[in-house]
Amino acid sequence: SDFTVGYLVGSLAKGSLNRKLAKALVRLAPSELAMREIPFGELPLYSYDYDSDYPEVARKLKDAIAAVDAVLFVTPEYNRSIPGGLKNAIDWASRPYGQNSFTRKPSAIIGTSPGSIGTAVGQQHLKSILSFCNSPMMNAVEAYIQFTPGLVSDDGEVSVASTEDFLRSYMAEFKDFIERVLSVYPRQA
Ligand code: FNR
Repeated sequence: SDFTVGYLVGSLAKGSLNRKLAKALVRLAPSELAMREIPFGELPLYSYDYDSDYPEVARKLKDAIAAVDAVLFVTPEYNRSIPGGLKNAIDWASRPYGQNSFTRKPSAIIGTSPGSIGTAVGQQHLKSILSFCNSPMMNAVEAYIQFTPGLVSDDGEVSVASTEDFLRSYMAEFKDFIERVLSVYPRQA
């Protein structure tokens, strides 16, 4: 593969709709993208008291982000924002001060919800956070996926052809975006 993409699934729920969506995106990604999950559910709640001595689980998170060319957020909207667990992971990765893992790291955001706004409001919050973290974000295509019953199976098969086509083109656009960003900002070691 040409590029590696680390994806974070914003939901910690076993039956997460966003995890199903992530599985679909892995299936539909172009062959140039090697997809791997970056887990964050085991992190303690962040405090700057840890900055002088990051725990192993947090160093692993930062190493995992450093090792990929780009990051994909597949996240639900909770109370019109992002889930607390995801924000906690971003806070960990953004620190210690001066060692922000997201700086110049290309990213994209996608999410699904049963409701028709399809995580749009939560995504706006995440864009604000990643903007502060200096991550170049893919602005277009946007993806707000309404999860109708059975839309994506547990192992990521999409039952609606137009949605499958859209998700495939979304990942192809992300590949092009990563290529453009890396041509300006070669990956930091
Ligand atoms: C939700 N849900 C929700 N949906 C939405 O469209 N906007 C919202 O602000 C919220 N807020 C919210 C808060 C909390 C705490 C929960 C648990 C749920 C519903 C949510 O979209 C639904 O539970 C999805 O299944 C969440 O995605 P995952 O966790 O299944 O991937």
